[in-house]
Amino acid sequence: MATGRRENHREDVAGRANVEDTPELLAYYDELENLDAGALWTVANKIEPWQPKSSSVPVLWRYEDLRRHVLRSVELVSPEKAGRRVIYLNNPGRREQAAAVGWLYSGLQVMHPGEVASAHAHSASALRFIMEGKGAYTIVDGHKLTLGANDFVLTPNGTWHEHGVSSDGTPCIWQDGLDIPLVNALEANFYMVHPKMQQEVGHPVDDMAHAWGNPGLRPADAEWARGYSPLLKYEWGPTYEALQRYGKATDGSPYDGILMNYVNPVTGGPVMQTIGASMQMLRAGEATKAHRHTGSFIYQVAKGSGHSIIDGKRFDWKERDIFCVPSWAWHEHVNGSDSDDACLFTFNDLPVMRSLGLYREEAYGDNQGRQPLTTS
Ligand SMILES: [Fe+2]
Ligand SMILES: [Fe+2]
Repeated sequence: MATGRRENHREDVAGRANVEDTPELLAYYDELENLDAGALWTVANKIEPWQPKSSSVPVLWRYEDLRRHVLRSVELVSPEKAGRRVIYLNNPGRREQAAAVGWLYSGLQVMHPGEVASAHAHSASALRFIMEGKGAYTIVDGHKLTLGANDFVLTPNGTWHEHGVSSDGTPCIWQDGLDIPLVNALEANFYMVHPKMQQEVGHPVDDMAHAWGNPGLRPADAEWARGYSPLLKYEWGPTYEALQRYGKATDGSPYDGILMNYVNPVTGGPVMQTIGASMQMLRAGEATKAHRHTGSFIYQVAKGSGHSIIDGKRFDWKERDIFCVPSWAWHEHVNGSDSDDACLFTFNDLPVMRSLGLYREEAYGDNQGRQPLTTS
């Protein structure tokens, strides 16, 4: 609790800082401040909380609310002028970072048939999840990927990439997910525009999916040593089929139903060094138990409808809606249908949490694992 004219976060707990202000100490703090220094015991309880305290709040972005605004941006700005014509998701607790949750960015990008965005590269890792439209494509380091609804695509850090929609396509909208806030926090972000504005396609279309997207098989003579998956595109059809097949082999997770991670086929690890992604299936009538863990998550509803309870608050969702779960927030998911499954796509910063040894998970123990609602 701050007291007097200075911050002094005292806690009456053994082992925690609890130093009373005195005139002598306050004068001492002034002297330290003049030297660009400070007494740790005045801020220790704030900067080292007992457990993670996310400044992000749980948010649900309804597609039916956002879609018309996303489409309107087509009339208002050109992709040439905007660079990327995107409406970004701005968490009320993370506005300064332009983050959707934690250190993750998310936005909805729209392109019309025949439009092409300029090629660029950045230190942030990026992904796309296709929401609607036909004819979208991405070129990543000369590899052209054709994209359809619910396909998941990588544009890893440092790669040249550009997006477009073929002239015989339809208006396309996709979610962009990036770790821009994280890379900025680490003060390591570079951005480059391609010297020719567009890159050449140097390989057969969808060659990486053809080479690396075969379950249990890898090319005998191809080498891959980069920090991201060579399988740059994960199509919806095989993903959904895999969930259904895995569902026949497992009872699933009490917290996630049938959950499968998108992986780098070379390592079995996450698709990129900083961002992980998964697709989960909630079976007809399934209601998961609550848990919480470190790591920030953005969900997009790929199929079906239902609701999630996040830190005691209910969020009703349907296809194309996006919602976030902040780090260490309790969450549980409910499929609203008794006859059909629901699928949730997620991306997250778990690779960062895991590689830094910061991953922690906890089950909600009370009330048979279900959170009481704090708000209706
Ligand atoms: Fe980009
Ligand atoms: Fe979870």
